[in-house]
Amino acid sequence: MSIYTNIKKRRSIRSYLDKKVKHSDICKVLDAGHYAPSSGNLQNWRFIVVRDPDTKETVARCCLEQLWITEAPVVIVVCSDSTKVKQEYPTKYKKFATQNCAAATQNMLLQTHALGLASCWVGPPSNLMKFKDNLKIPENIDVEALITIGYSNEKPLEKRHKIEEVTYFDKYGKRERDVSLFPLAKHLKKSKK
Ligand SMILES: Cc1cc2nc3c(=O)[nH]c(=O)nc-3n(C[C@H](O)[C@H](O)[C@H](O)COP(=O)(O)O)c2cc1C
Repeated sequence: MSIYTNIKKRRSIRSYLDKKVKHSDICKVLDAGHYAPSSGNLQNWRFIVVRDPDTKETVARCCLEQLWITEAPVVIVVCSDSTKVKQEYPTKYKKFATQNCAAATQNMLLQTHALGLASCWVGPPSNLMKFKDNLKIPENIDVEALITIGYSNEKPLEKRHKIEEVTYFDKYGKRERDVSLFPLAKHLKKSKK
């Protein structure tokens, strides 16, 4: 599968088959995560692989009671140890720490898809105290994201804005007047031929 196809075909999946995920596949997903770019190459991500059903239920309950999360055989919790990021970038560390973890998260979603598995990015828990307490996450460690992983049991729809609606040229808000450019999607079709 090309990178482009992988990116385009990946979808968030919220219903999973009762089928185990191979340990070697989880390792490949984690490996992809830790090859992400990071500010100053500080690699502040820390991953917790959750497979225990009780822990998964706590995780789901702490994330706005999204109980579908428990269906996924594996949940990866993406944490950040931002200590060194803060030392290197005192004014920007929060954004950098989160962005680094987001890059790792996206890498893992794409690797998951490349392995024929399905996933969903889930935002950080709303009940952070209970979550951290249950997973024994130290106070100074942030929870950035969760990734559910398993075999898909649904066919999701693709919903995207048109590229023209989200793209400007040279200045924010400036739309290109050159009509030969539009629709931008036609250039994608051409490049596929
Ligand atoms: C930061 C972030 C937080 C998200 N949190 C949730 C979540 O809590 N629950 C959920 O079902 N999906 C969550 N999603 C997935 C989005 O809903 C999904 O990516 C979006 O609807 C686009 O669908 P697609 O991933 O299939 O392209 C999150 C995605 C991101 C990037």
